[in-house]
Amino acid sequence: MDFKQQFLADVISGLSQPLKKLSSKYFYDEKGDRIFQEIMHLEEYYLPEAEMEILISHSTKLVEGFDYELFDVVELGAGDGSKTIFLLERLKALGRNFIYCPLDISPDVLETNAGLMKNRMPDLTVKPVPGDYFKTLSKIDQSIPKIILFMGSNIGNFENGADVDFLKKIKANMLPGDILLVGIDLKKNPKTILRAYNDSKGVTKRFNMNLLERINRELGANFDLDSFDHYPTYNPLSGTTYSFLVSMKKQVVQTEVSQKYNLEEIEALGRQSGFAKVRHLLDSKSRFSVSVFE
Ligand code: AVI
Repeated sequence: MDFKQQFLADVISGLSQPLKKLSSKYFYDEKGDRIFQEIMHLEEYYLPEAEMEILISHSTKLVEGFDYELFDVVELGAGDGSKTIFLLERLKALGRNFIYCPLDISPDVLETNAGLMKNRMPDLTVKPVPGDYFKTLSKIDQSIPKIILFMGSNIGNFENGADVDFLKKIKANMLPGDILLVGIDLKKNPKTILRAYNDSKGVTKRFNMNLLERINRELGANFDLDSFDHYPTYNPLSGTTYSFLVSMKKQVVQTEVSQKYNLEEIEALGRQSGFAKVRHLLDSKSRFSVSVFE
């Protein structure tokens, strides 16, 4: 099946369910990538700022005990590298010697990433690997130790226990001594979370609506976009943010799950995925954790 056939099949099966669903992986076409960058700069979307603070202020602790002469830093879903560069620069400043391997579905984004690294860290060896998480994971070089990065709370977008399955797959590609750093958004004041997914400028609404626009554009559908509204919800008990597109006419479409965790839940995730130890580094407001899975 080529991409378009798969997209069509996923849309048909998602919209045929009683609770209609569209997979958030289809958010990210060229326009979606651009809107997501806008989201990352919104004051209300606190996740990048919180994560970056941890990468900068806890870089030494994040790699504590990982004392190899040469290692790989493998980043899953690396994006443009604009946050990771802060960690990489800190590692360099600590005198650490490593190769950076960004993995991403988008070759364009990888080019931007490599360009940034070349500019800011000209001595760094960069080995980009295009492809989706699962296919590229098995291509990871096993000849030297590695730190795997999975940042941005992307782990929260998996549904129904798929977070554990994903961590298990990563673990299956790790050797003793390798470590995994995961950026995870934490449970907190529900209003703070809801604001992050319901920003005042309507950028997140545009991000969600682009999915319907994309279905119209690429699959020839005829969603009447003006009759939809964006409705994000957050349940403080389950820690789940659901984003809905509500049709003013007849159907409701759920587009995304963004799961939030507490530290005990992250530890349970580690145990269930077969990791021996998990430690956490939090930002100063305890909004976000970069958890080290060993
Ligand atoms: C990519 N992912 C972690 C984002 C999130 O927070 O779930 C995607 C996003 N959706 C709305 N705003 C941002």
